[in-house]
Amino acid sequence: MKLVTTKSELDKVINTEHSELSVGLVPTMGNLHLGHLSLVKTSLSKTQRTIVTIFVNPKQFGENEDFGKYPRTLEQDLKKLNALPQSENILVFAPQSEREIYPEGFSTTIEVSGLDHALCGLHRPGHFKGVTTVVYQLFKLTNAHLAFFGQKDYQQFRVIEKMVQDLSLPINLSMEPIVREKSGLALSSRNQYMSPAQKEEASLIFKTLSQLKESFLENPDKAMASRERLLFAEPRWQYLEILDAHSLKEVSEQTSKVLVAGAFTMGDTRLIDNILFRI
Ligand code: PAJ
Repeated sequence: MKLVTTKSELDKVINTEHSELSVGLVPTMGNLHLGHLSLVKTSLSKTQRTIVTIFVNPKQFGENEDFGKYPRTLEQDLKKLNALPQSENILVFAPQSEREIYPEGFSTTIEVSGLDHALCGLHRPGHFKGVTTVVYQLFKLTNAHLAFFGQKDYQQFRVIEKMVQDLSLPINLSMEPIVREKSGLALSSRNQYMSPAQKEEASLIFKTLSQLKESFLENPDKAMASRERLLFAEPRWQYLEILDAHSLKEVSEQTSKVLVAGAFTMGDTRLIDNILFRI
């Protein structure tokens, strides 16, 4: 495994070692858990080199969000990556300065419209343009052929997919399954903000989403009604939605894939999760 922290070091490796190889990219904000590592393993199995980026991107955090306290654990992250089979094919790009990604005077924003009217787009204004701007830079800096993202952030994946399509970016995307704890709780770097009791309680997120899925398959109208009841009975749900997974709008007769998604606040911690299924 190799670590680079600057754009010029990254360029050098790409130009000297990657020119003939298929390159996979796994963008992360670090504090790696088994969800991130499963993306890295998949990339290692499908490409000859995997670039893992570790960068807590200030542009995607709102003013009152957790940018300052987001866990930065580079040393442990490197150990975890180094312990993976085939780690010799990993290149880590962990810029230590924002300027490596956004040079002095950088003033461009990439914004995809049309998919941010719901879910996190609605509740975290400006979040997705921070994501698309950094991901565009990472695609360009790494020259990767294939990039891996988790279904955990389904709306993020869809927004990035639309950017790639609209701008004809020369990269393919792959969306990988959500890795969960035994309790059903989706792994997240933010889970460590919670006490053990809160973590246990947080398993109700996946339970609720699973119940809504089962209920939808039996009777969509009933599921819609219980979604509304659950949302209003529990103020800690920031949103709880059953949507057409393609348009992220209401389910209709054209719907072939359904997204059940929720955002839940546990103390100061905001957690998201979703389930996707065909009908
Ligand atoms: P981060 O939250 O670190 O997540 C990096 C990648 O890991 C994302 O594609 C996310 O969907 C995936 N991931 C997170 N938890 C997962 C889980 N439990 N199972 C499977 N995959 C999981 O998402 C971001 O960073 C940033 O927005 C980023 C794309 C890096 C841009 O800054």
